[in-house]
Amino acid sequence: MTGIMSEQQSMTSKPRVLSGMRPTGKLHLGNYMGALANWVKLQDSGLYECYFFIADWHALTTDYADPSQIRKNIAEVALDYLGAGLDPEKSTLFIQSYVPQHAELHLLLSMVTSLGWLERVPTYKEQQENLAGKELTTYGFLGYPLLQSADILIYQPRFVPVGQDQVSHVELTREVARRFNSIYKGNIFPEPDHLLTPSPKLPGTDGRKMSKSYGNTIGLTDSTKQIFEKLEKMTNGGQRNHVSDPGDPEICPVYDLHKVFSSETIKAETNLACRTAKISCAECKQIAARSIDEYLEPIRRRRSEYELKPNDVNQIFEDGAQRASKRAEETMRLVRDAMGIARGIPVARINAFDRYSYDTSQPMQYSLENFAEEIRSVSPEAQRKFLIDFWKNQMLPSEYQLKQLDDNSFVTLRNKRVFVAAAVTMDNQIGTQMFEYAIPNKNFEVLAFITADVTSNKVNAFVIPQKEFSFDFALERKPLKKSDVIKAYIRKTTGNLYQWSMADKAGRSAGQFQNVYEPLK
Ligand code: TRP
Repeated sequence: MTGIMSEQQSMTSKPRVLSGMRPTGKLHLGNYMGALANWVKLQDSGLYECYFFIADWHALTTDYADPSQIRKNIAEVALDYLGAGLDPEKSTLFIQSYVPQHAELHLLLSMVTSLGWLERVPTYKEQQENLAGKELTTYGFLGYPLLQSADILIYQPRFVPVGQDQVSHVELTREVARRFNSIYKGNIFPEPDHLLTPSPKLPGTDGRKMSKSYGNTIGLTDSTKQIFEKLEKMTNGGQRNHVSDPGDPEICPVYDLHKVFSSETIKAETNLACRTAKISCAECKQIAARSIDEYLEPIRRRRSEYELKPNDVNQIFEDGAQRASKRAEETMRLVRDAMGIARGIPVARINAFDRYSYDTSQPMQYSLENFAEEIRSVSPEAQRKFLIDFWKNQMLPSEYQLKQLDDNSFVTLRNKRVFVAAAVTMDNQIGTQMFEYAIPNKNFEVLAFITADVTSNKVNAFVIPQKEFSFDFALERKPLKKSDVIKAYIRKTTGNLYQWSMADKAGRSAGQFQNVYEPLK
């Protein structure tokens, strides 16, 4: 089953995972272990739908005054992603600014975000102090974590794999999601959880945490020679002044690297040899260098292959942006709708409609007063289309979030397929009115029938849950071909009693469901 099925699949598929990195230049082993290695594992587990991106707008929040390095850095990080094993066949890889919906969502979220929330995010003050040379009392910098919230929420992910330093940003994201959902009475933004990257202790060559700002890094793309040179100069934690002194691997930064990169055998052997002074630090460092070099070899190889094919790399990130954009747009439709800025200006065309009552004994009627002339003058097809829009925008209680798949079909937040049909009657024979609907021979969980009576200018809608129609529907469809339609009817008898039926089966009350929108949950 065409469109609906494929939408269904994409919606019912695996939980999504999203993460990103600022393009600050070539990555080092610390960046790799702290993020990328974990992303690759998540990707390769096959359990998640993965989105990984390069946060170039975030780079601008601190580097706006000198953007000269940004493009180069994006290219480096793109190659690092691919070299590390992120696979465009398995993950959606993209660059933030290629998906402008992130910026739109950032703007819309800014409407509901208190300044205090942003001022209290701990990284705000910390970074201002760390980067004291930069003028960071900007609006963009204050909004940094909110832009991140938009990056995250727009994909409605289940998990956000990040390091400890980003946890407060995911916390803010949850808070923003909660506020949005409560203001707009829906659940557009399920609250994502951070997924802490298990981060082994990874010292730099001076023994402190590996960090670009300390100049103690081993790069993901360092050559064999560079790795051996860096290891040779690495601190051993200030022990073993003489080769004959036994050492303690537990206080040696070189041994921390063995722990991450060397095999169990090498770890055990060097540990013992160090404690018993059977090995010199120089030898031990060479062994560590070899382990790291072997570890990085496949990454460097894959990276340099991509480096020779810049067009392919560009295409990967273009394709990724297109996929991401499609997914982002799905969320944005719901967001715009919730915030009252969906496309189209239905209210301008209909300046009078009344919502009467939720009492099921009283039809929920909307007035078509000023639209009566117009509806007479357009084609039946256009009438039906208009009525479905009218229903969606004016009648459907806002807590029911439907995503439109085509003219007549929708899915609910819980992936129920809904078929909506409209019919207009021009005559009002005394007492009864008949509305006829054609439903495709496909599976739906809910049917909604709109009746527009252009003599009294009233519109009604009847939402029929599957359990009410499944039996008749199954009987009707049996002798039919896939392309045939199934007829359904709503009959209005005297005294506001509405009945629905399929083919010539006996009618039953439609009114009992007319205001019960529950099936659309
Ligand atoms: N702030 C993150 C960092 O510095 C990068 C980032 C931007 C990010 N948007 C994100 C991470 C969304 C995870 C999810 O590393």
